[in-house]
Amino acid sequence: MEILPQIIVIDFGSQYTQLIVRRLRELGYYARLYNPDQLKDHPTPKGVILSGGPKSVSDPDAPDVDLDYLKQLDVPVLGICYGMQLLNKKHGGTVEPGTTREYGPATLSPENGSDLFEGLSESSQIWMSHSDTCTQLPDGAEIIGRNEDNVPVAIQLSDKFYGIQFHPEVTHSHEGRSVLENFLEMVDDEPGFKIEAFRDHLIEQVRDEVAGREVVCGVSGGVDSTVLAVLLHEAGTKLRAIYVDNGLMRKDETPEVVSQFEELGIDIEVVDASERFLDAIAGVDEPEEKRRRIGDLFVDVFFGAADNVELLAQGTLYPDVIESATSGSIASTIKTHHNRVQKILDLQAEGKVIEPLAELFKDEVRALGESFGIPREILYRHPFPGPGLGVRVPGEVTEEKLKIVREGDAIFIRHLKESGWYDKVWQAYCGLLPIKTVGVKGDERSYEWSVALRAVISEDAMTADWVELPPDLLRKISNEILNSVAGINRVFYDISTKPPASIELE
Ligand code: XMP
Repeated sequence: MEILPQIIVIDFGSQYTQLIVRRLRELGYYARLYNPDQLKDHPTPKGVILSGGPKSVSDPDAPDVDLDYLKQLDVPVLGICYGMQLLNKKHGGTVEPGTTREYGPATLSPENGSDLFEGLSESSQIWMSHSDTCTQLPDGAEIIGRNEDNVPVAIQLSDKFYGIQFHPEVTHSHEGRSVLENFLEMVDDEPGFKIEAFRDHLIEQVRDEVAGREVVCGVSGGVDSTVLAVLLHEAGTKLRAIYVDNGLMRKDETPEVVSQFEELGIDIEVVDASERFLDAIAGVDEPEEKRRRIGDLFVDVFFGAADNVELLAQGTLYPDVIESATSGSIASTIKTHHNRVQKILDLQAEGKVIEPLAELFKDEVRALGESFGIPREILYRHPFPGPGLGVRVPGEVTEEKLKIVREGDAIFIRHLKESGWYDKVWQAYCGLLPIKTVGVKGDERSYEWSVALRAVISEDAMTADWVELPPDLLRKISNEILNSVAGINRVFYDISTKPPASIELE
């Protein structure tokens, strides 16, 4: 049984399409993203949103939709940016290249009392990202909003078709949420997206897909794989949860993960492959080569332990699915992140891979986890990279450097938790700076490594900003690290944004 989305969002490639779906779900409506050629896959949507996109409607290969089909659906349709221009053109209006590219803030002044802008202020900030303009509207169309230069930025083409030139899904459009709410008001359906209902559906779906087979899943102690394992467990499947200790884990991490799963009532198999991993990267200092070796060995170790997989469950989330489906835009990975390895591709080709969380965003995975009673501490853990401390020790990884990072990180994270900052930052860690500098310890000259503390906020890891931790807190952390971690004589605080830096050091 498949749950059909209430709202379908047609993806014309804008960087914000995922956000549209998220916002609609936050407002209680089950929305999914579809490519333009999938418009007819679900014949009974209650509303359609046409997203923005990088093309111009006059480009020869501009993506298109079937307007007659949309009209026949007889549901509210909202075109955003490219979506608006396409609707305008297809209704008989004209769209021309704008004289200036317009990016960033502008002001919306609604007019003519359209339902779409019900309850909005007389003027509010909106966020633009486009270059074309609707220069002529079709007969019967009405302007329902203008920007500060009196240019129309919102139109109503008929009682069901609306177009807006700005992005209501981004928070920089201050009243964007109300615009989406008003659109949903016009939809002839109740908000029905509740994680509890979705959970029951997922459990049923997992049972169907698994059909009595043994399911193997990798667990790391992180949010996604924990929720996945609990879902499989709740669905009553024959589960083998495998945890690989790659020797690049944080202080006490392995015993903590083991007891975490004990408390959840799930047996896990721990494979201690630390030595193999450390041998594999000994002497390697090129970041990508290190990642490749760690990734390849992980697959060897994991599938060596799992042997003869009947079914593999992966914790793929909705954004991963979207990223790999959309023209490689965001997916153009800068680092070797989600290596789609051959072994998994082969299993996939044999129909032996299930991805039960593939419909969900991260916050929805957390909500699902909460509904299973998984402790908050697990659900709100900071992300931790697959290659572990390997990417937090630039250059050659040695036991000595790992020990420094483990000790420093444990101190840093403990202080963040005690001071209430842990939940306010998106990710924080202590990494090694592999440079030796001179210092004094007692009466002796020292010549030792340094550590860098990093704490960032981010929404989706694509961009990040450093966090202004209070100087007192930084001082306490630095003092404790310098006094108790052997082998270093300096602590730095990383004040680099991403871009140009990345979150991890490698
Ligand atoms: P960067 O360093 O690219 O990291 O800014 C962005 C986010 O991704 C995490 N990260 C990884 N996660 N496997 C993962 O599962 C990886 O190889 C990997 N590398 C980076 C990183 O911790 C941050 O949250």
